[in-house]
Amino acid sequence: MTILLPETALLPTPLGGALVNLVRRPGHDFDPAELPGLPRLNISDRSAADLEMLATGAYSPLTGFLNEADYLSVIERLRLADGTPWSIPITLPVEREHARLRGRVVLSHGGQDIGWIDVQETYEARKSLEAREVYRTEDPAHPGVAALLAQGDVNLAGPVALFAVPRGDFPRHHRTPAEVRGVIEARGWRSSVAFQTRNPIHRAHEYLQKVALELVDGLLLHPLVGTTKGDDVPADTRVKAYEVLLSGYYPQARTLLSVYPAAMRYAGPREAILHALSRRNYGVTHFIVGRDHAGVGSYYGTYDAQEIFSAYTPAELGIQILKFEHTFYCNACGQLVSARTCPHDSSHHLVLSGTKVREKLSAGENLPAEFTRPEVAEVLRAAYAERT
Ligand code: ADX
Repeated sequence: MTILLPETALLPTPLGGALVNLVRRPGHDFDPAELPGLPRLNISDRSAADLEMLATGAYSPLTGFLNEADYLSVIERLRLADGTPWSIPITLPVEREHARLRGRVVLSHGGQDIGWIDVQETYEARKSLEAREVYRTEDPAHPGVAALLAQGDVNLAGPVALFAVPRGDFPRHHRTPAEVRGVIEARGWRSSVAFQTRNPIHRAHEYLQKVALELVDGLLLHPLVGTTKGDDVPADTRVKAYEVLLSGYYPQARTLLSVYPAAMRYAGPREAILHALSRRNYGVTHFIVGRDHAGVGSYYGTYDAQEIFSAYTPAELGIQILKFEHTFYCNACGQLVSARTCPHDSSHHLVLSGTKVREKLSAGENLPAEFTRPEVAEVLRAAYAERT
């Protein structure tokens, strides 16, 4: 892997050249008196998260939910219709009864008006095609495919606005791409790496993060806090574990904990691209992709999410991918290793699957310190004890 270290402070340009900002404040940017007369649409948690991602520029250059040409182009070519790299269709699915909506429609979530869409087009979702190409399976047991099958059959397309950036459940850690860029600039990081995660932090995660931090100036710990599948560890537990670890084991000035509001798709390779492009918009120069990134079950090969990046040139990507092999603790080496660094056979290796970890936690058992630091194990144990 080649590491490029710039000489001076460096923030990558957002995809498309400029950070999209579609936050439109009632009373400042428009007259709220116009809202009550407009049609209203209740949207899901996932769509509300996508609206925030669009409006804050996390999905730059997108300015709204995809139209049919972009939708098909992303599915079939891994690009928007104009050729820009993009891997997952960002759509606003609705029930067929809403297919006639046109013009400005207010978007409501949790009983609150949060933004609008200017509907320019409606079209049929191609669910089979989308499942096959984006998720590489039509198996309804795949959580991403299940969500796709459960959503409406028609997509509304058009530019959006968001009335206020929600600060969610983690206001201290909730930052827009512009705000993260501001922190990176203020700290003078010449290079920085983002770490996407939806699982509690384990020693292997910490190892990847710290190896990366040997090479770049700053680390953006960017746990996803949008909707995840039911048996994933809830976001508040994961964020708590990060807070505990950060205070004891990470260099404060070189680390930034911030949350990533999007929902998890479990689309493996395709989602790795989305995660990387979006992190470019947040202003980092590097992105970590380890084993089975954003994967679930055995739908994807261990390194598929690394190989898929060859679909683009480095210049198109505009963010450098740090690819890591499967990492685990080796009792003979007495440290975290991968097949690249360890000569011992698997009898010396401690490998725990996510399922095994959940089983141990549910049974009230301790996780080995070589797998999870005791401080994190305690946060997880307490969260599981509370649930049962
Ligand atoms: S993910 O769905 O967000 O990818 P997770 O939080 O487990 O799940 O992983 C975060 C990142 O760490 C991903 O890039 C993943 O590939 C990587 N990763 C997780 N565990 C390991 C491991 N044991 N070895 C190498 N990479 C890993």
